Amino acid sequence: MCEVLYEGKSKTVCRGPDGGSLILRYRDSATAYNGEKKAELDGKGKLNAAISHKLFGFLEGHGIKTHLLEAQGDTAALVRKADIVMVEVIVRNVAAGSFSKRYGVPEGSELKNTVVEFSLKSDELGDPLICESHITALGLATKEELDEMTRLSLRINDLLCPLFARAGIRLVDFKLEFGRAGGELILCDELSPDSCRFWDIATGEKLDKDRFRRDLGDVLAGYADVLRRLADV
Ligand code: TMP
Repeated sequence: MCEVLYEGKSKTVCRGPDGGSLILRYRDSATAYNGEKKAELDGKGKLNAAISHKLFGFLEGHGIKTHLLEAQGDTAALVRKADIVMVEVIVRNVAAGSFSKRYGVPEGSELKNTVVEFSLKSDELGDPLICESHITALGLATKEELDEMTRLSLRINDLLCPLFARAGIRLVDFKLEFGRAGGELILCDELSPDSCRFWDIATGEKLDKDRFRRDLGDVLAGYADVLRRLADV
């Protein structure tokens, strides 16, 4: 077993084989509403690891630097150690979730432009929405870093939207985390149905963690469907 450095809500970070790397373990734990709702979903870790590794590999192939060094078994990865920016980036192509709630717009409403927003990475505070001048005032990231995170996030969106469209999936929104490594920003954390909204293009069926949040039924059938469809594109 590995030496645990940090236990997140759905992943565990362990010491890596050298000072420049870490081992990330995907667990079956699912949480929602900032930890109020919890469950163990047998096989979620394996599905998320497979989906995330596939997407990170795809992005790397298109020039996006990520922390992923290599997959290790079914549920873990060797990743590059990075100084995580304590600001999450959320990209939205369609209104849903907290955006719909905050602004009173029905889920599925078209947006006139892609939304890029930031939230403070803080479980204690419930990851509140945060604006650029607050981020720089708090010293969480510089203006240049925020510009680069925005540029990379929009590029990632431009790469992922057509990939998912080929899989018959609408990429509704997703959350990204970046880290500082070797003087640049690299994509960290994961890209999975836990951190993205995926809707079937034809039927609108939700294939992501909203199945868990909203008690929509067989959560992992949605995740497995995402993985299966990605294998074909
Ligand atoms: P939201 O609509 O609840 O703000 O979520 C937007 C997207 O970000 C959605 O795909 C889920 C993802 N997300 C996370 O991965 N972690 C989080 O803590 C939150 C709040 C959202």
